[in-house]
Amino acid sequence: MSSSPSYEALKARYEAANQGHLLSFYSSLPPSDQASLLQQLADLDVERVNRIYVKAIESEQGITPKNSPRLKKTTLVETGTLERVRRERSESLSERELEGGVNALSFSEFGTKSTPTTTTEESVVVQVKEVAESFGAKLLNGVGALVGTITGTSSSSSPATNNHSSSSSPVKATIDESNGLLTTPSPTPPPHVDESDDIEPLPASCAASVLTSPSLTASWRTTGLEAIAQSQVAVLLMAGGQGTRLGSSAPKGCFDIGLPSSKTLFQYQAERIRRLEEVARKEVGGEKGKKATITWFVMTSGPTRVETEAFFREKNFFGLQEKDVIFFEQGVLPCLSESGKILLSSTSSIALAPDGNGGVYSALRRPLSPTDSRTVVGIIAERKIEYIHAYGVDNCLVRVADPTFVGYCITQKAECGAKVVPKTVPTESVGVVARKGGAFGVVEYTELPKAKAEQRDANGELSFRAANIANHFYTTTFLNEIDSFEPLMAFHIARKKIPTVDLETGAALAPSSPNGMKLEMFVFDVFPFTETLAVLEVERVEEFSPLKNGKGSSSDNQETSRRDLLAQQKRWIEAVGATVETGEDVEISPLVSYAGEGLEALKGFVFKKGGAVESLDKEALSSFA
Ligand code: UD1
Repeated sequence: MSSSPSYEALKARYEAANQGHLLSFYSSLPPSDQASLLQQLADLDVERVNRIYVKAIESEQGITPKNSPRLKKTTLVETGTLERVRRERSESLSERELEGGVNALSFSEFGTKSTPTTTTEESVVVQVKEVAESFGAKLLNGVGALVGTITGTSSSSSPATNNHSSSSSPVKATIDESNGLLTTPSPTPPPHVDESDDIEPLPASCAASVLTSPSLTASWRTTGLEAIAQSQVAVLLMAGGQGTRLGSSAPKGCFDIGLPSSKTLFQYQAERIRRLEEVARKEVGGEKGKKATITWFVMTSGPTRVETEAFFREKNFFGLQEKDVIFFEQGVLPCLSESGKILLSSTSSIALAPDGNGGVYSALRRPLSPTDSRTVVGIIAERKIEYIHAYGVDNCLVRVADPTFVGYCITQKAECGAKVVPKTVPTESVGVVARKGGAFGVVEYTELPKAKAEQRDANGELSFRAANIANHFYTTTFLNEIDSFEPLMAFHIARKKIPTVDLETGAALAPSSPNGMKLEMFVFDVFPFTETLAVLEVERVEEFSPLKNGKGSSSDNQETSRRDLLAQQKRWIEAVGATVETGEDVEISPLVSYAGEGLEALKGFVFKKGGAVESLDKEALSSFA
């Protein structure tokens, strides 16, 4: 927070940035509100906000491809930054390859790479073939590398500069370099620019599937468990979103989807962590296996932090140690009008909104709170955490710290990874992992042209079917490197109804249709910067049932979440030779089983009554007989 902001200096600065309207009501405010407004203006980097606006609008209008503009040749030449970043990172990757044998085969290398010379290489190449074959049968076509390398090919202009060709779009948003003034574009919707040729399906080669590789899946799981047993794995929960589509402003993790136990999403995730620590200790921790710790980083936002922390405290951290649950907060950005003006939420406050789940990366480096100067990256280093599994809060089936996914990414020596499920219908509201502008990325359903969404391959399957389920993997090394290219990451526009004030009268306005935009970064927008991306396809019924919509909606709501979780647990029960009588709902506590393991004691048991199974003791089970 800056000290003693001066009215005159701020007025001059904001007027120069074409945002002087924020002081429209200053003279009529009481002194405390005047001080508060000045502080907000002093704390805001208004020139950065203007730059972000221009970049987001240009990207949306297709002035430059919105998918990975920083990988374009001219961007590299103009900024020099990414070129350096990628060169340095590429060199370090080569060193790692030399040290570790075959670990990150590039697309161009696969199939032409000379015969491996070490045992490690041989075993990996065998896996490469098996994976490519198995995955090709499911999601994708063709053969190639197990882990892809990104290359920039286009020569479009950079969005970070204003040197684009005017023929690219009839509407331009620019900042006059001489005075910093924002030249606003027309508020009419941007023209349609067909970028569909820029988007290609994911090559078969960069992914694997648990659906068709049972033996590999088991070995990935063991690798993941070994890392967990050594406390090298942490989880990063993205819980900064508000459940607006759910019709609730409470943090989504506090939601009870109506299970027999009434456990919330947060409790399920916490108990899965506890169980997995135990599974790792028992299965691979050796006889004297010491307790494994999975550190849980919980990213909140302004609107969710207080309630989230209070909920964890009230529930005694669901049995986890308080020191292993670390809260931090993503940043905010001002809400803007269509023409780039910062909106006021009242005569003395700026309208702010969370900066999207991609805000996670800068948040990792900020102090955890005003009273705790530690940072997430600092704690990761201190605890010697090597791998991070990041996930969204709203998926009741999420396999927190999934050893299979973590082990798969470790095996591939990937610095970044994504879990996907086969997309069901072209209209499903999920992003797809694909290639955009020659780089890896996620194309959100709002951004995928209809023709592409409906496109089918020779097998009649959706060409773009690698549905992103917001489960990502990073090595600590990669997370630490994001700092160097984060300023080049994309911003996305979400048009919303934003409560504001009439700039003439100061009267509150509650719009009934979108009147402005929130600017967001997306968590997967680091993908275009990865040297290696590992994609793992998993089974939807086992791993993905998100809570997005309100009760009674047609999909992804609390009824479907409850149904899918209970159906999964019934499958687990039946898999060990037990039965559930028709009409009964039996819930298996995550403390009893993480992913269906450890239920053999139920063999032959008949659940005549439903309820939540918290233990497999005879006495506990007797209440279900
Ligand atoms: C997200 C994915 C989408 C995927 C879908 C699967 C992103 C940008 N999109 O879409 O590709 O197919 O999940 O369910 O990830 N969050 C924050 N801070 C924010 C906004 C969101 O922490 O400012 C968190 C949410 O709490 C949630 C996760 O990010 O845990 C995903 O956000 P959500 O808004 O639900 O994304 P979707 O649009 O559903």
